[in-house]
Amino acid sequence: MFGPLVLAYSAAQLLLGSPVVAVENGLARTPPLGWNSWNWFACDISEETILSAARAIVSTGLKDAGYEYVIIDDCWHAPARDPITKEPLANPVTFPSGIKSVADKVHDLGLKFGIYSDAGSETCARRFGSLGYEQIDAKTYASWGVDYLKYDNCNNEGFSGNESISSWRFSQMAKALNETGRPIVYAMCNWGEDHSWTWAGKLANSWRMSGDISDMFTGYSKDCPCTSLLNCTTFGHHCSATRIIDWTAYMVNYAGPGGWNDLDMLEVGNGNMTNDEYVTHFSMWALLKSPLILGNYLTKMTPDILDIITNDAIIAVNQDPLGASIKRSWKRLLEEGDVQMWTGPLADGSTVVALMNTSPDPQTATISFKDIPSKSPNPETTTFRAFDLWQRSSELTRSGTRWGLDIGLFQGQISDITLKRHQTKVFMLVPQVRTTLRIQEDAE
Ligand SMILES: *[C@@H]1O[C@H](CO)[C@@H](O)[C@H](O)[C@H]1NC(C)=O
Ligand SMILES: *[C@@H]1O[C@H](CO)[C@@H](O)[C@H](O)[C@H]1NC(C)=O
Ligand SMILES: *[C@@H]1O[C@H](CO)[C@@H](O)[C@H](O)[C@H]1NC(C)=O
Ligand SMILES: *[C@@H]1O[C@H](CO)[C@@H](O)[C@H](O)[C@H]1NC(C)=O
Repeated sequence: MFGPLVLAYSAAQLLLGSPVVAVENGLARTPPLGWNSWNWFACDISEETILSAARAIVSTGLKDAGYEYVIIDDCWHAPARDPITKEPLANPVTFPSGIKSVADKVHDLGLKFGIYSDAGSETCARRFGSLGYEQIDAKTYASWGVDYLKYDNCNNEGFSGNESISSWRFSQMAKALNETGRPIVYAMCNWGEDHSWTWAGKLANSWRMSGDISDMFTGYSKDCPCTSLLNCTTFGHHCSATRIIDWTAYMVNYAGPGGWNDLDMLEVGNGNMTNDEYVTHFSMWALLKSPLILGNYLTKMTPDILDIITNDAIIAVNQDPLGASIKRSWKRLLEEGDVQMWTGPLADGSTVVALMNTSPDPQTATISFKDIPSKSPNPETTTFRAFDLWQRSSELTRSGTRWGLDIGLFQGQISDITLKRHQTKVFMLVPQVRTTLRIQEDAE
């Protein structure tokens, strides 16, 4: 239904807008990094599933790469709340030691702990929800040592359909979390319903902006039926990575430190995409400043997958203190798929550029510096040193981060960059503000 909202907002306002004021809990100044149980395990979880993932985060080096939150998704619940106190209870069979014990063990590993609930009568897997129980649930989570709450939108009893009713419902938990006094990242998961990207920043540290992702690179599934998020009523699931990227193009301005567009949990490593496709998925999520919440089976991960998700240059762009998303510079439509160029600023004045090929064939593309939004220094007349962030280099530069391979100095453009089927390349362009003479010396 596109009706009443059109009266309140013009389409242009909804799409381009300006940043919403972020929730003031001091958290998520950069996008949260972590792991969540759903994409691989769904409801098949236990204490051991969660703790072995937590141990793997440490032993594989993911913790050193920055991954921090270990998040239990749906299905940790007992069949019912405590009949007297109404407190939430954990499933006594799969979580016999209780959630607090799991949280303590996660904390002992130097990691943070997250849990899941739902702003409805029941969760998506039909466990008890938190609607009407926000205060008691938030208080219990705080007493368990929860650091992150993913808060879903199933079975919401019709309290949705416009911004005021949806934001009222999600604000109940925002308030309850705040009242606990414990800093808890609030990750709102209402699938973009009621244009949540335009208002969720006031309540939450992140907000899902589309229906659920699936381990699928491109294509349209009838389970993810929207053609535009503006007039979408059924957000669904089985959304491909490239559809989510295309939608996010219209909402990048709403995100910033403290409040992020959540493109959904990563599928990297779950088996239904090629490595080049996973590189595209991971690169674009990182550069669009989505939380990077892994969703794969960490104890059975191949070296290729570990290599993708620990690319420290890509993670450093995601965690850049400026917190500015890339924006789309252009999109060249092809018979099937397209080539897109995106650019964005980094805190130190350099620029990150992504070239993405969603077509089934190899493509070539040119990065023209006139497409770089910065006006100071004028990119058309500036010399840039370029780094290819997917070509690894052992050389440590710039505050200890490996910024990929130095591919040289460029003026005006970098031409004829080749992209394999479904591949994305990411470059960092560092303006050379020294004299021409010095630049020549540097190049030698
Ligand atoms: C929003 O939805 C609620 C519940 O359906 C309704 O009571 C309210 O009038 C609606 N508000 C607006 C501004 O449309
Ligand atoms: C609660 O909100 C206030 C003001 O909005 C903020 O200063 C405070 O840090 C918040 N506390 C927590 C625990 O989120
Ligand atoms: C796997 O990918 C293919 C092709 O992209 C897609 O048709 C299929 O639906 C995907 N499977 C799952 C489980 O998402
Ligand atoms: C939704 O919007 C898109 C793009 O504006 C349009 O192509 C499509 O027909 C619309 N669908 C409905 C059901 O209104």
